[in-house]
Amino acid sequence: MTFRDGGDGTPREGLDPAEGRIARFVRKVRWRLREGIYAGRVSVGLRRDVHAPVAVPSARIPLSLRSFEPEDLAWLFPDDDTGSGADERADIAWRLRMVERGALFSHCFVAIDETSGRPCHVQWITEAGYDAAIRRGGALPVLGPDQAMLENAYTPPQYRGMGVMTAVTAMMAKRAADVGARTVIAFVDEDNVSSLKGACRAGFRPYMIRVRRQYAFGLVRTARFDPLPADYAFPHQRP
Ligand SMILES: CC(C)(COP(=O)(O)OP(=O)(O)OC[C@H]1O[C@@H](n2cnc3c(N)ncnc32)[C@H](O)[C@@H]1OP(=O)(O)O)[C@@H](O)C(=O)NCCC(=O)NCCS
Repeated sequence: MTFRDGGDGTPREGLDPAEGRIARFVRKVRWRLREGIYAGRVSVGLRRDVHAPVAVPSARIPLSLRSFEPEDLAWLFPDDDTGSGADERADIAWRLRMVERGALFSHCFVAIDETSGRPCHVQWITEAGYDAAIRRGGALPVLGPDQAMLENAYTPPQYRGMGVMTAVTAMMAKRAADVGARTVIAFVDEDNVSSLKGACRAGFRPYMIRVRRQYAFGLVRTARFDPLPADYAFPHQRP
């Protein structure tokens, strides 16, 4: 559930051979300007034992899960490349290329709305052993052999608030077990209330705080991981 917008320190620059030089330069300049002089971002690391039984509420529509297919993009992101979900769409393209290059061990899944047969959610499972540059750029942990990470959950606007992400996250934990994981983790920005709620409903519990800071338009970046303070509460639950 990280890597949302390419502005979070991900090392996309220089890793994507398919992108033209001018397009890459323009994107890098835009990205740097968006960073600003200083920014801090707090995320919560959440985890779940994939074998622990969890009573997860069903979505308000019947769902099934299958591997992503290229035709799904048009349903998931009906707007053009600059409309709603443009960052997520670009991220999918980038990730697929990284998977093809062997830099990322990720599997992309979509949930299907069984009433219409259309994709209504996309999410990734990443396994251990992915490229160190991607890990450093995204401020992500080294995964153990029995760990997997859920990333980049996205529900198109017309399907939001129907419990789709919650149900799919639980289904994804089961898929993680299928690839040998015992523990599945995810990072969610502290201000992303719906993702935090959905992850918790799907059986995830917070265990770590990650603070990323960037200075001077992203030229200097730091990431710090700390155990969850004993008195920690999500911002939306604080008095
Ligand atoms: C975050 C996102 C995936 C949630 O998808 P979703 O399918 O709408 O999520 P759910 O319907 O399962 O809702 C999860 C929880 O958030 C709540 N919620 C949904 N929208 C909300 C909103 N706008 N404000 C507050 N809570 C909200 C739901 O009520 C539910 O909580 P509950 O179980 O206590 O009722 C979706 O909003 C999205 O794609 N956002 C853009 C991309 C993004 O932020 N991805 C996550 C990266 S970590």
